[in-house]
Amino acid sequence: MTYQFILTETRERVGLVRLNRPKELNALNSMVMEELAVALEEFDRDPGIGCMVVTGDERAFAAGADIKEMAGATTVEMVQRDAIARWDRLKRIKKPIVAAVSGFCLGGGNELATACDLIVASETARFGQPEINLGVMPGAGGTQRLTRAVGKALAMEMVLNGRFITADEALRAGLVNRVVPVEVYLDEAVKLAGEIAARAPLAVRFAKEAVNNAFESFLADGVADERRAFYMLFSTEDQKEGMQAFIEKRKPEWKGK
Ligand code: CAA
Repeated sequence: MTYQFILTETRERVGLVRLNRPKELNALNSMVMEELAVALEEFDRDPGIGCMVVTGDERAFAAGADIKEMAGATTVEMVQRDAIARWDRLKRIKKPIVAAVSGFCLGGGNELATACDLIVASETARFGQPEINLGVMPGAGGTQRLTRAVGKALAMEMVLNGRFITADEALRAGLVNRVVPVEVYLDEAVKLAGEIAARAPLAVRFAKEAVNNAFESFLADGVADERRAFYMLFSTEDQKEGMQAFIEKRKPEWKGK
């Protein structure tokens, strides 16, 4: 498949998607989101891929939803287009996604990063929800996922007052996994994704789902789902191999079965 606004490549078991609208700071128009969803779904179906990385460029991960695309829209048009429904497809991706973030990570860009499972940030990354400055508010999960990640106090400041936070602040707040120099942020993200991709595929899939359920269900439901997934993994060859390898003091060989 040829894409207009993204670039894709594979690095061993890692599928990499780069947002590619550098002049517009990778603003997320409908086509970008459509292509991103298609590319991630394709990697998700590919048994040769175990984990994915989504990135932008050094200047911007993404500066938000495309303001020019929606500036003149009425409520009815926004509801009819329902562009944000496309984001639900990202949440249905079963393999883990690492966001590699440098520069501006704003509005829909920050919502995209927080919809990923892990975030590797460059020291230059700036995270924010500046929609308030446009007379609107976050619309793709920003009030929900950001708040769960950083807590109410900081989320209120970012959402109500449009405050940008630095990569170090994001690390302290629990928004990102690690902060590294800009020269290596993408390599670090690919390395982390590669490590995850080398693990037992079915266990990774159910574990991702279980951790995400912690934010999307009541505690009792999440704990019950986790227990079911844990028991279910005992019918996989990988569970037998993983535990036997531990007992025999050797490295396991995963089959994804
Ligand atoms: N949509 C469309 N175009 C955008 C954009 C966006 N979100 N962000 C930047 N651009 C465009 C600019 O219009 C500019 O285009 P031109 O060269 O044609 O004028 C180009 O990208 C470069 O941007 P700037 O000249 O503004 O660069 P800068 O370095 O001076 O400023 C910035 C960078 C602070 C990120 C600034 O561009 C900015 O404030 N961007 C908007 C950020 C924003 O408000 N994001 C939220 C969008 S709404 C949203 O995301 C809703 C949601 O929840 C789903």
